[in-house]
Amino acid sequence: MSQTLAAVKGMNDLLPGEIEIWQHVEGLARELFGRFGYGEIRTPMVEDTALFVRSVGEETDIVGKEMYTFDDKGGRSLSLRPEGTAPAARAYIEHSILNQEPLTRWFYTGPMFRYERMKTGRYRQFYQVGAEAYGSKEPAQDVEVMDMVAQFLQALGLQDIALNLNSLGDEACRPAYHAKLVEYLKAHIEELCGDCHRRMETNPLRVLDCKNPKCQEVAGKGPNVLEFLCEPCKAHFDDVQRKLTALEIKYVVNPRMVRGLDYYTRTVFEFIASHPALGTASTVGGGGRYDKLVKSLGGPDVPAVGFACGLDRLVLLLKEGTRKFGASPDLFIAVADPGSQDTAFTLASKLRREGLRVDFDTRGGSLKSQMKRSDKSGARFTLVLGEQERTSGEAKLKRMADGSLIPVSLSGLAAAVREHSATEVAQRGNAT
Ligand code: HAM
Repeated sequence: MSQTLAAVKGMNDLLPGEIEIWQHVEGLARELFGRFGYGEIRTPMVEDTALFVRSVGEETDIVGKEMYTFDDKGGRSLSLRPEGTAPAARAYIEHSILNQEPLTRWFYTGPMFRYERMKTGRYRQFYQVGAEAYGSKEPAQDVEVMDMVAQFLQALGLQDIALNLNSLGDEACRPAYHAKLVEYLKAHIEELCGDCHRRMETNPLRVLDCKNPKCQEVAGKGPNVLEFLCEPCKAHFDDVQRKLTALEIKYVVNPRMVRGLDYYTRTVFEFIASHPALGTASTVGGGGRYDKLVKSLGGPDVPAVGFACGLDRLVLLLKEGTRKFGASPDLFIAVADPGSQDTAFTLASKLRREGLRVDFDTRGGSLKSQMKRSDKSGARFTLVLGEQERTSGEAKLKRMADGSLIPVSLSGLAAAVREHSATEVAQRGNAT
């Protein structure tokens, strides 16, 4: 007997029933981000491994432990993208975008890959919708992207999501913070894991996002990055907060939040949900400013800021609600006798051409089983087609909500379905 094959661990199939929620979320993102002037980009799912090593950082968990890296047949080291910021920056440089416009706003959506320990809300292939803005160093740009996430979450109807905000300083003030952090960590070296011993030397900030509880406890009591900000970084951070307040976006300052990627300077933020459905995978989106990344990848000296939201997590939250997603058929055509099957088939095709969502069972079968299927499909109307309807050209449209019968002529079916759907929607609107 041949063994059945299953999807790769941590990688999920998305099927009808659930995909409608995904489509809703992605559609909303496209529409909303478009309103903010962000244009869509699509970059390859595979990049040179060096791109992520040089941007996300060698010492991060993402690059150090979680990347799907392989050699292609030409011996190049490639990696499945674990995130979208580095590929976007690569594309920005490669297409000399700065020569074409001083301010660029891009968004993207698609799968990312990280070999992580799996649990609810944490997968090895997961989906992000993200945005990046290049060319503005102004606090208003930071707040614009946070506003975009806040409006996105609000439009999805998601509540109880806290915006956590921090500043990591820049090349002028971060060295002093680093030095203090290393001094503190050295004093607690016994309590840190082996990885953090190394991180302390190579990249001390990464100790702060070590997943080991003991390291987290030590990190939680370490020096406060905000106390080390230089004047320009402090002014930037203050202005970000003023502007968030002006937009009535609530936030909490969280000086312990450093994010798990190396490229950030100044503002970093995370949107954290408190719904139990996500467990500890509660961060639904995160981002920040990365003013040095484009230059460090060989591009021009361009400041940038962006974010990414985890679609899987947003969908998990939406599944908890009662809202129904996706459109049901407008009409189900059932046949009363096998002789009507071909006419019904042709009619279904014609109505679909006229823009209706039509369900029809190509297998025929008993009228009872077809009516059952119609019920299950959630169709708004059902039309039973038999010899009498075929010969007279007249039929009855059954409104599934109340079982009432509406006389219609087959030649004007599309218009009748539309007209009666509209009155039904209006009546429902009046009733609520
Ligand atoms: P990130 O925080 O690594 O940031 O990921 C952003 C979001 O992706 C997370 O908040 C989470 O919702 C989702 N996510 C991450 N890993 C997983 C996973 N294994 N399973 C499910 N969801 C996950 C970035 O990726 C940055 N590129 C964001 C950014 C854009 N910063 C500036 N611009």
